[in-house]
Amino acid sequence: MSLSNDQKVLWSGRFKEGAAESTLAFTSSLDVDQRLASYDVMGSIAHARMLARQGIISKEDGEKIEAGLKEILAQVEDGTLPIDPKLEDIHSNVEFLLTDKVKDAGARLHTARSRNDQVVTDVRMFLRDAVLDTVIAIMGLEKALIDTAKENAETLMPGFTHMQHAQPITVGHHLMAHQARLQRDAERLMDSYQRLNVSPLGSAALAGTTYSIDRRYTAKLLGFEAPCANSIDGVSDRDFVAEYLFNASLCAVHLSSLCEELAYWSSPEFGFIEMADAYSTGSSIMPQKKNPDVAELTRGRAGAAIGDLVNILVTMKGLPLSYNRDLQEDKGALFASYDRLVPCLRMCGAMLSTLKFRKDRMLEAAKEGFLNATDLADYLVVKGMPFRKAHEVVGGAVRYCIDRGKRLDDLSLDELVTFSGLIGEDVFEVLPIEKCVRRRRSLGGTSPDAMPEQVHHATESLERQGVFAARERENIRKAFANLARSA
Ligand code: ARG
Repeated sequence: MSLSNDQKVLWSGRFKEGAAESTLAFTSSLDVDQRLASYDVMGSIAHARMLARQGIISKEDGEKIEAGLKEILAQVEDGTLPIDPKLEDIHSNVEFLLTDKVKDAGARLHTARSRNDQVVTDVRMFLRDAVLDTVIAIMGLEKALIDTAKENAETLMPGFTHMQHAQPITVGHHLMAHQARLQRDAERLMDSYQRLNVSPLGSAALAGTTYSIDRRYTAKLLGFEAPCANSIDGVSDRDFVAEYLFNASLCAVHLSSLCEELAYWSSPEFGFIEMADAYSTGSSIMPQKKNPDVAELTRGRAGAAIGDLVNILVTMKGLPLSYNRDLQEDKGALFASYDRLVPCLRMCGAMLSTLKFRKDRMLEAAKEGFLNATDLADYLVVKGMPFRKAHEVVGGAVRYCIDRGKRLDDLSLDELVTFSGLIGEDVFEVLPIEKCVRRRRSLGGTSPDAMPEQVHHATESLERQGVFAARERENIRKAFANLARSA
């Protein structure tokens, strides 16, 4: 028999009447899942090759199916796949097209398979590529941060806690803190890959199958590390989707935090940076305006990223095992999250590499707000005063300065000794903020001397990320090249 093209569903046999047009439209996922077409074909080639190898279908049927699927793959690749919007999803479309081409052989493809394992296999293959793309995009921004940090290893700025002036730091040190967040984002994605890269194919509807299939073989053909252990979990598990959405959300939150800083640093009140014209926009009414819209939109889009994560968690929350149609909704959130995050990462890298630091403004700001107060207290501690006492003494000196509109380093030695007899001429070696920064040589600290080690660790991690992405890319490429060749 051959599936008739006017049935338009894969499951018409049991029904007396066709489903209402509205039901078909309501349940369709085609708009979203067409994007999985090439993965669907790859999964089908692997499945067909395995069926023929196991003697479940004849060798001839296997060859016909593969040949038909390769034609379909070529159509997917050159954008000429004739999608029938009446067919509910991409899986139905591929199967109908195949059956049209190779008749009964095509109608045998779905032996020992269900759309339940098919769809989740496709999504895992999509997400492998998406994870690698995301890691590569993160690497681009990390590299921009590291390069800019190296250039600014001696550029002074105020460091903040509670958004109040705290201690002086370098711009390089600050940027490397952003890099550290992104490094964790990349490493989290790499870690998630081992849970992602397993094959549910052959789980069939939920319970496995009576045919003597070889799940290890299909897993290997598709470049997966292994088949998943439990067929019920195989069709139900969307943890890997939630995991990506969390990883993407946290990364988006990190970008948002970076962009928040870039936005207010570019305000006239701060004036720490100037964005390149290329990554700024103007106002339709105020001719003088130059707005940090790229930074603001990146900050704003973190909201939708978190929304996508919440969406999938709530969708999964009440679901009993195993496949439930609710799971169809995973793809919209997943695709949206990936499509949003990667351009944000790329734009942040471009924006960062082209912005100008106004070193004079940052230095001026770093001289305000008693950023060297801790250093004066530390000075007294070295002279023998208990830290708690020193804290109190310096607090008094700060209050004295505030009342007189002075800075600590404006005070004369005569004024300073009124706060403690331990203070001597050498205090002037401690108070200039350049010195405060230079002396913070502790591991991970802000001194330019402590930077090379931070840069070294970051660069090493960046190399590991690059090796990982290239290795996994190559693994997928090889598997797919083998599938696209004749058996
Ligand atoms: N379009 C479905 C999805 O995305 C494919 C699986 C449908 N399975 C089913 N039994 N209705 O999840």
